[in-house]
Amino acid sequence: MFVSENLAVNAQGNLTIGGIDTVSLAEQYGTPLYVMDEELVRKNLRRFHDSMRKFYGGRGEVHYASKAFCCKEMCRIVASEGDGLDAVSIGELYTAKSAGFPMDKVGFHGNNKTDEELAYALESGVGHIIVDNIPELHRLEKIAGEKGIRPQIMFRIKPGIDAHTHKAVLTGQIDSKFGFALETGEAMEAVKEAVNCKNVDLMGLHCHIGSQIFDIEPFEQAARVMLSFIAQIKKELGFTVRGLNLGGGFGIKYLNEHDPAPFENYLERVSGVVAEECAKLGIEQPYMFIEPGRSIAAPAGITLYKVGARKEIPGIRTYISIDGGMPDNPRYILYQSEYEAVVANKASQERTEKVTIAGKCCESGDLIGENMPLQHAESGDILAVLATGAYNYSMSSNYNRIPKPAVVFVNGGESRVAVKRETPEDIIRNDI
Ligand code: LLP
Repeated sequence: MFVSENLAVNAQGNLTIGGIDTVSLAEQYGTPLYVMDEELVRKNLRRFHDSMRKFYGGRGEVHYASKAFCCKEMCRIVASEGDGLDAVSIGELYTAKSAGFPMDKVGFHGNNKTDEELAYALESGVGHIIVDNIPELHRLEKIAGEKGIRPQIMFRIKPGIDAHTHKAVLTGQIDSKFGFALETGEAMEAVKEAVNCKNVDLMGLHCHIGSQIFDIEPFEQAARVMLSFIAQIKKELGFTVRGLNLGGGFGIKYLNEHDPAPFENYLERVSGVVAEECAKLGIEQPYMFIEPGRSIAAPAGITLYKVGARKEIPGIRTYISIDGGMPDNPRYILYQSEYEAVVANKASQERTEKVTIAGKCCESGDLIGENMPLQHAESGDILAVLATGAYNYSMSSNYNRIPKPAVVFVNGGESRVAVKRETPEDIIRNDI
């Protein structure tokens, strides 16, 4: 009935998440409110790591991309599932470490890591660092030497896959700020250089072809391209690349008409391609990493708002104003992203209107969406925007000095605060 499997309607006609009444959650914790369903987060993680076991013999790791949604509680949940983490900044590393995350299961990313971040990653004992460019390799070689730590590294490679067309085609993707291009030979040059570095251990290669991808075929293509590069390295340098990280990017259902491939199918298909290609190329099957972010967190989350003003502009449109907006969800203004919305206290009713949901910022573009089918919403109603668990809280801001909402987790009929609601005092915390 709704885009995410954890949502339903109870006897009072209210929307529920993980079996809990969202209207009561809004009353108890206030709005706007991010709500995350722990059970669905765990289920999504298992969909990937169970299939890693089933289809790839467990010779790999799932590293949740924490940029999608990161807080200490999320790190604890991921750790308790035995999965790893993809972190991209000192803030994400610090969050993981503070949550007691096993840092040897963290891959550290970023196209412009600072010396401070590299040093912190080394001191924290991260499992590996995904190196983006040659100057970074040199800086890491130096810092690692000074610290007497020899980190495992991977290289970020641009495999030249256009993941956004329906049928995957090989394209010149040299124009990306991330990683080394294969076509120009710079990737091979980087490998040659790393092989001769004393203080780093080139363990593997990494690629990430994009995000919100519905098909599995582009991932199969990427695996083929990466494996053939691994074979070329073996042939030309006699060097064995042990690890292959295929990144994240698996699409989710934001609207009912979206039809992403089931997450379980991803590793089944890709493992098949890896086995076949490795046999053909005469190389060992690499240890595999994948980095799902959105697919773990997005379907597990919703955002609850209180409806304020309703403005009907005859013949033009109806605005429904809410007590949040672009500071807690900047994805419409950034990407014109689409969401399903429900009036939580009228969830059993038909959606009879098409409205524009407007945020409270002093900015006309501050919308959650336009032309959104919705039940008749009035002041005081609770509005739920669905599948907001990824890239909402993590991309939130304090624009207009609006305090950030709390994050509440639900599980087994209980709810608990994972991130406290910001207060006006928090807003001036760093002001002198
Ligand atoms: N690994 C790497 C290296 C990445 O850059 C990303 C996402 C992921 C994994 C996880 O991708 P996912 O499974 O979540 O698609 N802010 C945008 C999404 C940016 C994704 C950036 N990289 C949005 O709100 O749609």
